[in-house]
Amino acid sequence: MLIDTHAHYDDGRFNEDRHEIIERVHREGVSYILNPSSSLSSVAETISLSQKYGYVYSAVGIHPHSISEANENTMAVIKNFASNSKVAAIGEIGLDYYYDNSPREVQKYWFAKQVSLAGELKLPVIIHDRDAHEDVLNIIKKEQAYKTGGVFHAFSGSVEMARELVELGFYISVGGVVTFKNAKKIIDVVKYIPEDRLLLETDAPYLTPEPKRGKRNDSGNLIYILEKAAAIKGVEAEELAKITSENAIRLFGFGGE
Ligand code: NI
Repeated sequence: MLIDTHAHYDDGRFNEDRHEIIERVHREGVSYILNPSSSLSSVAETISLSQKYGYVYSAVGIHPHSISEANENTMAVIKNFASNSKVAAIGEIGLDYYYDNSPREVQKYWFAKQVSLAGELKLPVIIHDRDAHEDVLNIIKKEQAYKTGGVFHAFSGSVEMARELVELGFYISVGGVVTFKNAKKIIDVVKYIPEDRLLLETDAPYLTPEPKRGKRNDSGNLIYILEKAAAIKGVEAEELAKITSENAIRLFGFGGE
């Protein structure tokens, strides 16, 4: 069993063939896919994919890149979508100080609001953190996000930060970057992460792993990430696939409805 805990099949880069790809990767062994939304307009498509495919789940929330579109009414809209039984998390949400597409104060305000909504709905959070480690940590602590838990997706922090997150009860998700030739920091992080807190993801259509780097990503490439993570941890790929799948099911409740 293999689970892609983060893929964006609502993305425009799948307009020509999303159904074909989703069906193919499932046939080829990806048991479940979690598709987080990124903007308000992507929420509806995300939900409709999870309605069509039993093995596709959705997360609803607004990515820091699109957060300028948020207002108080948006939270009510997200809350309404989140009542759907195929919604497994609030996400992806967070802070991005690398691109800074929205003012930092605005990002922080709505990130805190969405974390608080997740707490109210008792849903885990999917966190995007780029160059904003300290503020992300402050907000998840203040909003007590550890109560519902969640995952740091495409983790890019240090071993020290990973340790702090693990102590707070969070999962850490690893994607294509671990396969890159210049990868170093993430390799140390994978070595450290306790096996029962590790998740795997593609972040399709982005962050395509080696040896497919440069092409559009899809969940079929999860195998390269699994193999690299297993090699770093010194375990059989099959064993790590089983453990990380159990982790994903524990956190997101796939197959439970
Ligand atoms: Ni993403």
